[in-house]
Amino acid sequence: MFTNFPFFPQQASAQAGQVDAIYFFMVAVTAFFSILIAGLVVYFAFKYRRRHRDEIGHAIHGSLALELLWTVIPFFITMVMFVWGAKVFFDMYRPPAGAMEIHVVGKQWMWKVQHMDGRREINELHVPVGRPVKLIMGSEDVLHSYYIPDFRVKADVIPGRYNVLWFTATRPGNYHLFCAEYCGTKHSGMIGTVTAMEPADFQAWLSGGRADESPVAAGEKLFADLTCNTCHLTDTQGRGPMLTNLFGKQVELQGGGTVTVDEAYIRESIVLPQAKVVAGFQPLMPTFQGLVTEEQLLQLIAYVRSLSQQGEAPGAAPQSPTMPQSSSRPVVEKK
Ligand code: CUA
Repeated sequence: MFTNFPFFPQQASAQAGQVDAIYFFMVAVTAFFSILIAGLVVYFAFKYRRRHRDEIGHAIHGSLALELLWTVIPFFITMVMFVWGAKVFFDMYRPPAGAMEIHVVGKQWMWKVQHMDGRREINELHVPVGRPVKLIMGSEDVLHSYYIPDFRVKADVIPGRYNVLWFTATRPGNYHLFCAEYCGTKHSGMIGTVTAMEPADFQAWLSGGRADESPVAAGEKLFADLTCNTCHLTDTQGRGPMLTNLFGKQVELQGGGTVTVDEAYIRESIVLPQAKVVAGFQPLMPTFQGLVTEEQLLQLIAYVRSLSQQGEAPGAAPQSPTMPQSSSRPVVEKK
């Protein structure tokens, strides 16, 4: 619609049209009332100007009809903005199930990306068109913000928690990527390119180049290297909760309350193990804060997710042969 308008970024995602529609609606409403009110101010200034030195204005005692009119009309207009805006917002911040997941870590001053099959990139992001893509984003250091203007998506990347951004690219091409949160000296250089490709080209790109270990495989290795597997056994409760088929479930906590096992809770349990201890377990786990990087945390989480079938995004990536299946995983020796 506005692709030829030089001051406006092109619409290259499924969400872009909706965002622009509400944006232009709000601009139009604002412009209409600004011009109307400014025009009336000038018009009335002339119409009701003082014509004689001793002229005194009429006393006005108000008008209920007028008060109601200029209260009720703006109320309905703002409610339209609110409901419409909320709908677009919820659509934008709730990724559909089955979206292709990609890990993104912001770091002064670069964007590190890892695809689920292991392929990494820096300051670039390759995605297929026509398929929802979900970015799971964390920060290694300070606040950043991942911004793709042509897709009309932007989300802060926050140290200590995960934020999610999703979009469906609609046309192949290269698009600007910016960091939209001031993050230090080279903030302005924290830019890159998002490349949207036809699905077949994307598959070719994914399989080309040197693929690193998939996050799940790397996470499994870390799980053993950090000796997580001595307490978190795979087939029975050890000193720590068994993680098989745990992702997405609710667990009871020590001292009451429940928590859903999601990315945020697993992350917290690794860096601050005493924060929310599962009922029936001792607070024995040491913290791994500072011992694992953000990328490694994402890998560990990917591994824990892979232990639950339902936590797996269907067809997120070609199943790698190292993808562990709960039934065929080697049983860790019991104490
Ligand atoms: Cu990262 Cu600004």
